[in-house]
Amino acid sequence: MTDPLLTVDAVEVRYGAALALAGLSLTVAEGSVLAVVGPNGAGKSSLARVLGGLVRPTAGTIRFAGRDVTGWGAHRARQAGLVHLPEGRGVFTGLTVAENLRMAAAIVPRSERADAVGRAYTLFPVLAERRRQLAGSLSGGEQQMISLARGLIVSPRVLVADEMSLGLAPKMVDVVFEGLSEARGAGVTIVLIEQYVHRALAFADHCVVLHRGAAAWSGPVAEATDDVLARFLGTSAA
Ligand SMILES: Nc1ncnc2c1ncn2[C@@H]1O[C@H](COP(=O)(O)OP(=O)(O)OP(=O)(O)O)[C@@H](O)[C@H]1O
Ligand SMILES: [Mg+2]
Repeated sequence: MTDPLLTVDAVEVRYGAALALAGLSLTVAEGSVLAVVGPNGAGKSSLARVLGGLVRPTAGTIRFAGRDVTGWGAHRARQAGLVHLPEGRGVFTGLTVAENLRMAAAIVPRSERADAVGRAYTLFPVLAERRRQLAGSLSGGEQQMISLARGLIVSPRVLVADEMSLGLAPKMVDVVFEGLSEARGAGVTIVLIEQYVHRALAFADHCVVLHRGAAAWSGPVAEATDDVLARFLGTSAA
C-alpha cells in the first residue's frame, strides 16, 4: 500500500465556542474521489476550508503528499496543488471572465499560462464566448464554471469542491460534473462535497458521512447502500 495523498488526523475546527470539526480523521488515496456528505451544519465546508488553508485547525494534523501542511495558508496550499473551490463560487464578480482566469493562472509558470487558460476555454466554451463580460453578469451556473476553471488552471493535485452544484439547473450540474470528470481523468484527486448524494456516490470511490463534525460512517461507495444512507444521513439521503 502506498501512503495516502491526503491524511486528516484528529482535526478539530472551532469558530469561537462552536465546534465544527470534532477530531475528524480520514485519508484520500491519490487519484481517487472522496464524497463528503452530511446534513446542514455537519462540518462539510469546515473540512473544505481547513484543507484549503482558509481556517486553521485548533487540533490535529493534515498531511499532503508526504508533508505536514497543518496551518498552511490558502496561498501556500494552492501553490502546492491543494486547491479549494469555495462554496458560493469564489469568483471576482467585478472582473471580466478573462481577468478571473488570468488571475488564477498567475501562480502557473509564465510560459504555461496561455495554455492553461486555453484549456479552460476549451473545457467551457461558454466562458470563451463571454470572456470580456463581467463575471458578475453571468448566470450562477456559468459563474460556477469560472470557479471550476480557476481551480483546474493551476493543475491541482487535489481539488476540494464544496457544493458546486448548489442552486444550479440540472443541465448546469451536468456541466460541472463533466468538468470534474475531466479533472479526474487527468489524475486529479477530488474531495467532493455534494448535496446530490446519489450523484456524488455514483462519481466517487469512497464516501464519508459527517455528523456533528465527525465521521458517522465511511467506506467504499459500493457499501453506501440506501440502508446505510438512511441510517446515517436520515431523510436528506434523497
Ligand atoms: N464562521 C463561522 N462562525 C461560527 N460558526 C460557524 C462558522 N462557520 C460555520 N459555523 C458552524 O460550524 C458548523 C459546521 O458548519 P459548516 O459550514 O462546516 O457545515 P456544512 O456541513 O458545510 O453545512 P451546509 O450543508 O449547510 O453547507 C455549523 O454548526 C455552523 O453553524
Ligand atoms: Mg457547507
